[in-house]
Amino acid sequence: MPITVQPLSDACGAEIKGVDLRQPIDEETKRQIECTFHEHVVVVFRDQDISEEEQIAFANTFGGLGERRRSPNGSTPGGSYETPFMFVTNIRDEKTGEPIGAFGDGEMWFHHDTSYYKEPHKATLLYSIRLPSWGGNTCFSNMYKAYENISDELKQKLDGRKVLQIHDYKRRERIDIYNSDISGMLQQEQPIFVTHPATGRKALYISRLMSARIEGLEPEENETILNHLFDISEDPSIVFEHEWELGDLVMWDNYASIHMRKDFPREEPRLMRRLTLGGYGPLS
Ligand code: SIN
Repeated sequence: MPITVQPLSDACGAEIKGVDLRQPIDEETKRQIECTFHEHVVVVFRDQDISEEEQIAFANTFGGLGERRRSPNGSTPGGSYETPFMFVTNIRDEKTGEPIGAFGDGEMWFHHDTSYYKEPHKATLLYSIRLPSWGGNTCFSNMYKAYENISDELKQKLDGRKVLQIHDYKRRERIDIYNSDISGMLQQEQPIFVTHPATGRKALYISRLMSARIEGLEPEENETILNHLFDISEDPSIVFEHEWELGDLVMWDNYASIHMRKDFPREEPRLMRRLTLGGYGPLS
């Protein structure tokens, strides 16, 4: 069945219509979805009523599932490791009061998923199950465009350097690595500019939440340059804001985009079911 594609912004994002995610995806549809995904970086499927098994089957069409890793310091978010899902939610267990999933409520700064793994996962598939009455939108920034917007002089200075990506699930802010014990946190040096294995295009690979230190820079210059890059990467002209509806499945490219979640009422449940796809290997 031919699909239709409707671009959602000048920055990135496209809605794909004409696909029922409960059904197996044939080769031609798979090819069209992949092309759209690589061109638009974020794809949205609306009005989907899918079970866990159907979400897994759809994800498996595009490659093996990403494996979740636990933090050495034990701050990995709640939710069972028996399934490949991470539940992104502010809902707590009624009896124990413990979070049943990850990332609770409130705003989450821009980040790549799993940039702190040796082989970051190539895509995330987030499915909405319960939504608050307002807020909780997810914003996606196109990191191909961010790369294009860096001056040639700065590109030359940073080319070939690595940046430390680090995350502690307990924190909502960037880690001050100069004044913290980071030994128990998930972390990985990654190229600051990456070449996407599927498209061959270059993307900026930093985020305000997780990028801590550029190789070879003194702390003051590091902060100046990273803050400049954070501003470039969050420029509204390269950001698409997704307003969730129930039954949305959004799949985004973790090499070519960063994302952030906006605030929402903390007393209202928001529940999203998240899967990732394993990566192409180490970034380069
Ligand atoms: C995430 O950062 O993976 C979740 C984003 C969201 O909850 O909107």
